[in-house]
Amino acid sequence: LHSKLMVVEGSTTQTAAPTSTRPITIIYGTQTGNAEGVAELAAEQAKALGLSPVVLDMDDVSIDQFSQIERLLIVTSTYGEGEMPDNAQALWDAISEDSAPQLAQLNYSVLALGDTSYDEFCLAGKLWDERLAELGANRVGARVDCDVAFEEPAQSWMDAVIPAIAEKGSDSAGAASTVSTTPKAAKSKFNRTNPLMATLTTKKVLTHPESSKEVMHFEFSLGDSGETYQAGDALNIIPLNRVDLVEELLGYFDADGSVTLAGADKALKQQLIEELEIRTPSKELVSHIASLSDDTAFKALIDNDDKAGLSDFLWAKDSLDLLIQYQDKLAGKLSIEEFVGLCKPLAPRAYSISSSIKKHDGEVHLTIGSVRYNAQDRDHNGVCSTFLADEANEGDSIACYFSPNKNFAIPEDGSLPIIMVGPGTGIAPFRSFLEEREMTGASGKNWLFFGDRNSKTDFLYRDELEAMQEKGLLNQLDLAFSRDQSEKVYVQDKMREQGAQLFADLESGGYFYICGDALRMAKDVDQALHDVIEKEGNMSAEQAADYVNALKKNKRYVRDVY
Ligand code: 2AM
Repeated sequence: LHSKLMVVEGSTTQTAAPTSTRPITIIYGTQTGNAEGVAELAAEQAKALGLSPVVLDMDDVSIDQFSQIERLLIVTSTYGEGEMPDNAQALWDAISEDSAPQLAQLNYSVLALGDTSYDEFCLAGKLWDERLAELGANRVGARVDCDVAFEEPAQSWMDAVIPAIAEKGSDSAGAASTVSTTPKAAKSKFNRTNPLMATLTTKKVLTHPESSKEVMHFEFSLGDSGETYQAGDALNIIPLNRVDLVEELLGYFDADGSVTLAGADKALKQQLIEELEIRTPSKELVSHIASLSDDTAFKALIDNDDKAGLSDFLWAKDSLDLLIQYQDKLAGKLSIEEFVGLCKPLAPRAYSISSSIKKHDGEVHLTIGSVRYNAQDRDHNGVCSTFLADEANEGDSIACYFSPNKNFAIPEDGSLPIIMVGPGTGIAPFRSFLEEREMTGASGKNWLFFGDRNSKTDFLYRDELEAMQEKGLLNQLDLAFSRDQSEKVYVQDKMREQGAQLFADLESGGYFYICGDALRMAKDVDQALHDVIEKEGNMSAEQAADYVNALKKNKRYVRDVY
């Protein structure tokens, strides 16, 4: 599987397959690049079966092209709570319209990527699958919904679906016609199961010791790997679980960490450290504990599928908290083997890269908030953030791999203004953007909105940002320190204050970026953007929404939020 992931896409133009062979179109909706990677892998496999594949970003497919296709694979992730990925929105809107064409000629199958820890698991893929059937298309092979570890189910889907779809359609079956795409870098040979070992060279705390938070800066050397990345990409870190938590768990079960469980290839302690999501309980573990718990309120949350209630109940609780809470009922009824069987595989954590490789040759930098809190009388530590902050030392090799994020990129035309909204650790990719614009000598205006709790303790990269201002690289810096005064001030308040300038910069071709908290910040910033456009552009709310959608479609409004 992994050698097959080494697909090289060098050309700048992808053309439709010659009509004498059997074309197959593979389109992807992606936020982090995973779906794109699977689409390319599917193309390799289709080619091996004698098909002529064309891989396309959903944003590069018009509804007219779509209606010509006879063989189609869709690979799409789901964004946030059940949203389409940004690059899928326009095509989805078109296909959802009442006026959408009937698709009786179309043979298709959908692979949905998702994460079962979200309520709306794989919703985007489900919607595509249902909508195409509704339009009369012929589903060839059932949709497969993948959890975070998607490689194996994705492979099974391809094995089943590609040969089946090859039998459908005509020899000259339509494919999406010639589409220009931007040049793509060679795909990395590194991935989740074959990671790059990068050396941690520098680690330092960015926040002041008196801050209520801890944000760290990490630098890694890519050694002689030849790996590279673009500003806006992410680095996935494959963490190890903390030894202290593993020992607490072993203690709870009174288990011997040196034994090897049936089916495992390493000692239990090592398995808990390296392989399993032991901190956040899986849905299966939660249900199992509920069923043994004798707690009718807890059970009712599961039986009634009360998601909000369950999420409140589980707030700030990790697996061990649940085990401890129901220790009396679980004693003798839940073994460590069963516990291990109910844990999900330990997933990599993706972080927006905060450096430009043009400025830091052979290096990649990350900016990470350490997740630490006390709850249920125990110290809780985020898996990856505190693995790096507490357990990893300078000189250590850290397993990682890159995820391209080609939508979250600076404009090719360096003369265009960029407006970056990145409070807290949301500043990460914007440090990378600024460095990139410095190194490429881009002349366009660089405008950053940054915010955090207090200026004295949380002004991340203050010295660097001020130096950039002095150099004339950072042309405008608007700061919102929410707790420096009695009234909260947020980045969106600063945007509203600067509304006229903001609208003017958009009108002159500016790009607008948001990075950081998805739940509240990104929504409020989005609202502020709408409000500014409505006011400064003298538009109705609807016109402002159209304006924003046009920005999105042109990749001039992009988000990297979590
Ligand atoms: P607060 O914690 O003082 O409320 C980075 O975390 C910064 O984002 C902090 O200053 C935080 O403020 C702020 N923040 C919290 N909620 C926000 C929201 N809805 N919109 C924008 N910023 C927010």
